[in-house]
Amino acid sequence: MANYLITGASRGLGLSLATLLAREAESQVGLVFITSRNTDTPKVADLVEKTSGRVVPVQLDANDPKSLAAAVELVADRVQGKGLDVLVNNAGVQTWTRGKVENLSPIDLTNSFHTNVTLTHLVTSAFLPLLRQGKRKVIANISSTVGSIALGTTFEHHPAPAYKISKAGMNMLTVNYSLDYRSEGFSVFAISPGWLRTDLGGAGADLPVETGAKEVLRYLKAAGPQLNGRFLNIHVPGWENAPASNRYDGKDAPW
Ligand SMILES: NC(=O)c1ccc[n+]([C@@H]2O[C@H](COP(=O)([O-])OP(=O)(O)OC[C@H]3O[C@@H](n4cnc5c(N)ncnc54)[C@H](OP(=O)(O)O)[C@@H]3O)[C@@H](O)[C@H]2O)c1
Repeated sequence: MANYLITGASRGLGLSLATLLAREAESQVGLVFITSRNTDTPKVADLVEKTSGRVVPVQLDANDPKSLAAAVELVADRVQGKGLDVLVNNAGVQTWTRGKVENLSPIDLTNSFHTNVTLTHLVTSAFLPLLRQGKRKVIANISSTVGSIALGTTFEHHPAPAYKISKAGMNMLTVNYSLDYRSEGFSVFAISPGWLRTDLGGAGADLPVETGAKEVLRYLKAAGPQLNGRFLNIHVPGWENAPASNRYDGKDAPW
């Protein structure tokens, strides 16, 4: 049985993924740690109650070294030497810019980079010792095809340069981790979960959040060295030949 930790799981994709994981057989999935800056929310309380303690809320503000250390200690205490098997770096933020990129506010750019890249790095490095103890050694970074440099023209009219730049940065962070830890048996990959109806994706998005969560879960279950260093796209039947910005063909996304 594998222990999972998902960041930014108070809502959206992270919460949906935790809900699906908690429905898996206990022989497959052990504890599911869900982190958020604020875990005291009705949605988190509801999931914890329905899953009889299998989903464990962890207050984590990765900006605060004490909060990060306390989160690692709590998880270490609960897994009792078995370590953490799968880390899902899901917490993320998207901001909008009016007009051309010259209007991109430095504050937006810095904040987006900090949340989407720096916090992903801080969380990953803090949990590495527990991941080393785990059997699976999987790190999934929830990225986006809008951060693909190769698809820059495809998403030309998506007015979120801070998000695009930071997800491109997250992709390179993923490559760095995948190279540095492959000899230890780690599988570190980036995955684009599709355009999903969440607070971040908006009500007009292509897919219900559960569709993206099921696909991410499918990759998490299959993950091993074969996924190390890759940028994955989900597969949704019927969307294989959609325009490139909405294509979910299960093939690797271009960097
Ligand atoms: N939805 C889409 O269409 C889509 C498409 C491609 C990729 N993604 C990626 O999927 C991931 C989840 O997105 P979502 O759609 O589920 O978004 P969401 O519903 O807005 O949820 C975002 C989560 O990230 C957390 N978060 C945001 N800023 C944070 C910070 N500074 N520190 C810690 N936690 C922070 C939020 O926590 P709080 O509740 O504390 O704010 C929340 O739990 C993101 O990485 C996003 O980029 C989403």
